[in-house]
Amino acid sequence: MRAVRLHRYGAAEELRLEDTPSPRAGPDDVRVAVRAAAVNPVDFKIRSGAQRAVLRLSLPWTLGMDVSGEVLEVGARVSGFKPGDQIVASPSHRRMGCYADEVVIRADEIALKPACLTHIEAASLPLVALTAWDALKALRVTRSQRILIQAGAGGVGSVAIQLARHLGAEVLTTCSASNVELVRSLGADRAIDYRSEDWRDVARDCDAVLDSLGGDALPDAISTVRRGGRVACITPGVPDFTKRYGSVLGLLVFGGWLGGTMLRARLTRGVSLSVVTRRTNGQTLGEVMRLVESGALRPVIDRVFPLAEAAAAHRYLETGHARGKVVLQP
Ligand SMILES: NC(=O)c1ccc[n+]([C@@H]2O[C@H](COP(=O)([O-])OP(=O)(O)OC[C@H]3O[C@@H](n4cnc5c(N)ncnc54)[C@H](OP(=O)(O)O)[C@@H]3O)[C@@H](O)[C@H]2O)c1
Repeated sequence: MRAVRLHRYGAAEELRLEDTPSPRAGPDDVRVAVRAAAVNPVDFKIRSGAQRAVLRLSLPWTLGMDVSGEVLEVGARVSGFKPGDQIVASPSHRRMGCYADEVVIRADEIALKPACLTHIEAASLPLVALTAWDALKALRVTRSQRILIQAGAGGVGSVAIQLARHLGAEVLTTCSASNVELVRSLGADRAIDYRSEDWRDVARDCDAVLDSLGGDALPDAISTVRRGGRVACITPGVPDFTKRYGSVLGLLVFGGWLGGTMLRARLTRGVSLSVVTRRTNGQTLGEVMRLVESGALRPVIDRVFPLAEAAAAHRYLETGHARGKVVLQP
């Protein structure tokens, strides 16, 4: 089969399309023919080596944590899936492997793909939807709450807006002027053009903030949310620390900074800060797919690249201005 493999950390050109043996399925695994695989910012962060301190890979490595495809083979202990099933999944960071013709995934990380979605649409959802789901859960978003979702036109933001609306919250979101219409169509009550307006003023005293920007946006989110409110951060910025201080010291300084930030938020403003990382989970993914079937959630696809052009897909996503999701097609 073909796979896009990384032999050395670095620029997008380090991604090479190669022939490799098909992966072997263990007893709890499912082997899947990849029909589409989404690209996520974490992929280019790993590719560049920025995540080395927290994620050790044995190169060469096949990236890719989002897939939609067809089951080819199931392991001896797998029940619930059979060859021919159309599925979606976000495999764990220990495996990844979706930039390929075939991938092996744990059966408990898989959900059936709804017939109403194409493979390209389905592949765009798992990682961002699981992340948005967990973040909104950490924020305890309920009806009538006012929530700020940063970067509403991006992968996570475009799903988080829809999920928060589904929960009945009032949604404010940041985006550039060209994406105002898009975020409104997803259900945002208020689009804040971050180039001409200050979100800190518009969103002052909201109940919750989903921060996907990191950096200065995190302390600003803590001071913007109302006293006793909640902030969920999905981009705490480990690479900034490891780049500056090296792997070991960087992680220690990061831990100290994060602990201090959480404590200060709690003591000075009663704000609860959580750092959310995507957890792979077939059951939650199944619930996400049911929301798609009910019409509460729709994918937003920006561009589709052939698998062989994975490097171009990375370069595009790295601009930081994709509109929804970027997807690879074998
Ligand atoms: N913790 C986790 O498990 C987890 C999971 C998924 C993602 N993440 C992280 O979360 C971040 C976002 O992920 P993503 O997939 O949503 O990224 P993405 O799709 O690449 O986000 C692109 C979007 O960001 C918007 N944007 C850029 N600068 C902005 C700014 N200053 N203010 C508001 N919006 C801005 C752009 O909108 P405009 O073009 O309108 O500017 C664009 O639509 C990444 O750092 C990613 O690594 C973490």
